[in-house]
Amino acid sequence: IFAAVEMAPRDPILGLNEAFAADTRAEKVNLGVGVYYDDNGKIPLLAAVRAAEKARLEAMPPRGYQPIEGPAAYNNAVQGLLFGKDSQLATSGQTVTIEALGGTGALKVGADYLKRLVPGATVYISDPSWENHRALFESAGFPVENYPYYDAASRGVNFAAMKAKLDSLQPGSVIVLHACCHNPTGADLSDAQWDEVVAVCRERGLIPFLDMAYQGFAEGIDADAVAVRALSSSGLQFFVSSSFSKSFSLYGERVGALSIVTASKEEAGRVLSQVKRVIRTNYSNPPIHGGAIVAAVLSSPELRQMWEDELGGMRERIRAMRTGLVDQLKAEGVAQDFSFVIKQRGMFSYTGLTAAQVETLKADFGIYAVSTGRICLAALNSKNIGYVAKAIAQVVKG
Ligand code: LMR
Repeated sequence: IFAAVEMAPRDPILGLNEAFAADTRAEKVNLGVGVYYDDNGKIPLLAAVRAAEKARLEAMPPRGYQPIEGPAAYNNAVQGLLFGKDSQLATSGQTVTIEALGGTGALKVGADYLKRLVPGATVYISDPSWENHRALFESAGFPVENYPYYDAASRGVNFAAMKAKLDSLQPGSVIVLHACCHNPTGADLSDAQWDEVVAVCRERGLIPFLDMAYQGFAEGIDADAVAVRALSSSGLQFFVSSSFSKSFSLYGERVGALSIVTASKEEAGRVLSQVKRVIRTNYSNPPIHGGAIVAAVLSSPELRQMWEDELGGMRERIRAMRTGLVDQLKAEGVAQDFSFVIKQRGMFSYTGLTAAQVETLKADFGIYAVSTGRICLAALNSKNIGYVAKAIAQVVKG
């Protein structure tokens, strides 16, 4: 039965991990996947997470099934982060939140539910977008198209083109928006532009689906929630996928959430009942550990403060790596102005490196990046930044 099965291509991001692991060069650097490493090149176990895990281990809790939607303590904590503590959307009961298997799992549950809700819709993603967005919504059965986003010349957002496209969409279209730290470009909308996007969504009757995988990596928890808060105060209904992979350094625990803002508590009850069917026929109910740790940290004022401090530390270290890379490229004699790297937000830089240059970085230096030229600044550290800058300098100088 498998005789005619074709080999599928490697995943453009996670496939790099496989190739990187197989590379035997000691100096290799993985700038591919969006993962934060500390200055020693290690994925940190946050002190707040460590404390919560220690307490949980000592309590030796039973391992029964969770509710299909995940535990209320976790889901409430997610709502607090997204919408603000004691916000109307968090307290009114009109918002459904379910624990999901990371941000990807949240997007998938949301996509599968949307396919039942608006089966004839088209999904629009930014050009460019996270490599997995298109495949994920297509696998849920939607046609997926782009809306203009990145402007290579200005290294920013071509907002006029984006808005013109949104203005032309059919009512009921699903529009996937990166809430902050746009992946892959690092170019975000301004607060005023978010207000305009919300206004277009209202006028055109679009269904916004915010993807929020990097809350806390641009400015801070509340500042990075500007898109969520703009939609919250609009009275519109919308979807948000969120993730603790990066902000809690819990990648492999697969801790995320899907939130759906409905018009009323009664509506939320019906929507939840449908989303539960999607989950039950997929993975039944979420695993316990990661969500329990996140909920414990967020519900303890002391651990929450510790976490916010650690998150701030990660944010600052990435910023330092941005400045450091720009300085070192200059020192290596690169004439091209790379100062845009400092302005980009989040983990990534859309460097403008071509696929051929990325290939040379891998072949000649063991430096892995996404073929689109996206690099993860959070994988740079004080030991490898000089090597990476030299290699990039050599590649761009030809
Ligand atoms: C990334 O874009 O590298 C991350 O979001 C990890 C992933 O799942 O692709």
